[in-house]
Amino acid sequence: MRIPEELAEFGKKRIAPFPVEGFVYGSGPQYPELLLVGEAPGETEIGNGIPFSGRAGKELMKFLEIAGVTREEVYITSAVRSRPYKWGEKNGPDGTKIKRKYNRAPTSREILAHAPLLDYEIEHVHAPIIVALGNIGLKRLVGNDKKVSECHGELLMQPVLRLNGEQYEWTEKEYRIFPTFHPAAIFYNRSVLELIHSDMEKLRILRRNLSVNHQANQYKDH
Ligand code: URA
Repeated sequence: MRIPEELAEFGKKRIAPFPVEGFVYGSGPQYPELLLVGEAPGETEIGNGIPFSGRAGKELMKFLEIAGVTREEVYITSAVRSRPYKWGEKNGPDGTKIKRKYNRAPTSREILAHAPLLDYEIEHVHAPIIVALGNIGLKRLVGNDKKVSECHGELLMQPVLRLNGEQYEWTEKEYRIFPTFHPAAIFYNRSVLELIHSDMEKLRILRRNLSVNHQANQYKDH
């Protein structure tokens, strides 16, 4: 599934005033095993157009394996589809300072600019569970009251935020949301690795139970 070209163009226009670069489409099947919502692409992703193909992506693929799914079976997107950057300096080989771009978290205005894109994906990608990877993705979906550190590994059943004009409102429909940490969190805090592993074990069991129930319900209907 890919969002319509007009919607991608609309998103690019809305985010143009902000310090971001590139554009990466969400990617995966329309009926995936999971819908993953991250933060924003980084340098690698805007280079090759593949979400989660950089350093954090490699970790994510290992986590998905624990949950029992492959990249091909999930739909991957994020709150913002362009790379938010800030200018910084690093030391060149001869000791001179070289200016370069660094990744940064997207701001709430950037998230709002790309909200119609994620809204479209939530409406058109039919996944039994939405996995929020990190606080940016989680808060975009369920508001600022929730924190990954407090609800990771729990299944939330609730509406999600959707843009109406320039204001968010709650959807009527309820979704299954499974919050966990952003895979890049392990680069800053190694102890998060164990927590993600245990979340992925829980996710694997949840998926299995959902599919068993689904099959039982189908059987009941016949
Ligand atoms: N982090 C994200 O949220 N998305 C990517 O595609 C890469 C890193």
